[in-house]
Amino acid sequence: MSKLSLSLLAVVLLIGAMACGSKADSPAPEVSSAPAAQVVEVVEEAQEAVAILTSRADAEVSGKVSFIQTGEGVVVVANIAGVSPGLHGFHLHEKGDCSAADFTSTGGHFNPTGDPHGGPDDAIRHAGDFGNIFVEEDGTGRLELLTNMLTVEPGAENTVIGRAVILHEGEDDLESQPTGAAGARLACGTVVMAGLEEVPGMAEVEVEESSSNPEAVD
Ligand code: CU
Ligand code: ZN
Repeated sequence: MSKLSLSLLAVVLLIGAMACGSKADSPAPEVSSAPAAQVVEVVEEAQEAVAILTSRADAEVSGKVSFIQTGEGVVVVANIAGVSPGLHGFHLHEKGDCSAADFTSTGGHFNPTGDPHGGPDDAIRHAGDFGNIFVEEDGTGRLELLTNMLTVEPGAENTVIGRAVILHEGEDDLESQPTGAAGARLACGTVVMAGLEEVPGMAEVEVEESSSNPEAVD
């Protein structure tokens, strides 16, 4: 059984356990008889990370990116809105610091293997190369991909935790070095363990000082 389905099972088990403790109308599912220790073990195996996008001040981008650990690798699911139609470069950048007004504080593409930039289907690429998100006429876009170059495990060399997702103004051409020439950074989100993300609206970004690092790259 994959870890993803284990996590779903864990939710079912938890709901079952909660139903037992409360005055539930319906009979508890039979799985609720699982020992508590077993439930905890299953929950700890389920790993998911989340990034909530913050828009650049002159744009109105919103979005959420989920990273779900499976036996095959990490499934990345991004949903965005408020973006101009067309292709927009989308990457995992090295540092989870969205504090600069232009988001250059996130550094370059996450690249623990020291490889050149590429597209998400290239064998040789940055681990953070997610290609482009296609945005519809209504300003929304969705991307789903599976990568074996990343993990959700905190502290691992190739972990997504503590890094940042960046949505770009322009299209990633999947070959220009080292950035794909996707242009300025439109939205940024720090990747955290699921459940620890800041709720939109409560996350008023305080831009301290615009970073003007001349070495920063797209
Ligand atoms: Cu980028
Ligand atoms: Zn790259």
